[in-house]
Amino acid sequence: MENKEIIEKIIKLKKEKNAVILSHNYQMGEIQDIADYVGDSLGLSQTAAKTDADVIVFCGVHFMAETAAILCPEKMVLLPDLNAGCPMANMITARQLREKKKEYPDATVVCYVNSSAEVKAESDYCCTSANALALIESLTDVNKILFIPDRYLGHYVARKAKKEIILWPGYCPTHHRILVEDIEKQKAKHPNALVLVHPECTPGVIDLADKVLSTSGICKFAKESEATEFIIGTEVGMLHRLKKENPQKKFYSVTGLALCPNMKLINLEKVLWSLEDMAYQIKVPENIAVKAKRAIDRMLEVKGIA
Ligand code: 13P
Ligand code: SF4
Repeated sequence: MENKEIIEKIIKLKKEKNAVILSHNYQMGEIQDIADYVGDSLGLSQTAAKTDADVIVFCGVHFMAETAAILCPEKMVLLPDLNAGCPMANMITARQLREKKKEYPDATVVCYVNSSAEVKAESDYCCTSANALALIESLTDVNKILFIPDRYLGHYVARKAKKEIILWPGYCPTHHRILVEDIEKQKAKHPNALVLVHPECTPGVIDLADKVLSTSGICKFAKESEATEFIIGTEVGMLHRLKKENPQKKFYSVTGLALCPNMKLINLEKVLWSLEDMAYQIKVPENIAVKAKRAIDRMLEVKGIA
């Protein structure tokens, strides 16, 4: 089937089923182009929480669809490929977190949204890359934080916030592939370009950046900046949206190796099958969902960040 034909069928089915398509910024261009909303984890959660559609086709990875299912238990949330997971989210289990909490009984647990529903249910607060620092700074009565699972996002926040932050050794294998020497090479090639990186990058990479932002933060900054050239230190899929929204500006990916294979599992055909078969439904057991929602709601409620 031609893409045009697939897209026509998707649009027709979307209407019939009162569905919306949400896409993360790392999805393939063909998915971003048909989505009703394209954004970062925070924007996707906020959009899921307020949509009046009956069905959400989530083009992203499992924890993102799960977060939408927690926020909207009355809606049907579909992930077009169940294999689209996030290796970082799998780097901590609820049991491991419970053990760690025993070691630090007086610490407040802040979990990055890149985590399972079970882990969120064991956490006090959730955060995304867009609001981790603001959330932690808003916890004025809290001095000790157990931050899970991303050690690099945790380290970035720890350098800025004046609190004790205990880190968990998780990381993103895709951002781990962005090396200091790659940034140095790109800077030498494009001396006028600003370096924008994601906080999942290693501290050495972060030290070389002009700005450290979430994926949508990078899009917003690039659009509003007077600069015309940017070196992008995050997953390569970002280049699609950046180029589309700023055709007059130049964007250089730090390395083609920064590709998230999970994000690329979803394609147009799978979105169509997902709507045809109403698959794969993401459901979270109620006892877990209620507890996990508390941590997510607390994040969405913090003034100034939601
Ligand atoms: P954002 O919330 O910044 O889009 O990041 C999600 C993610 O998985 C980055 O690797
Ligand atoms: Fe997970 Fe990294 Fe892929 Fe983001 S880029 S979904 S953190 S593996």
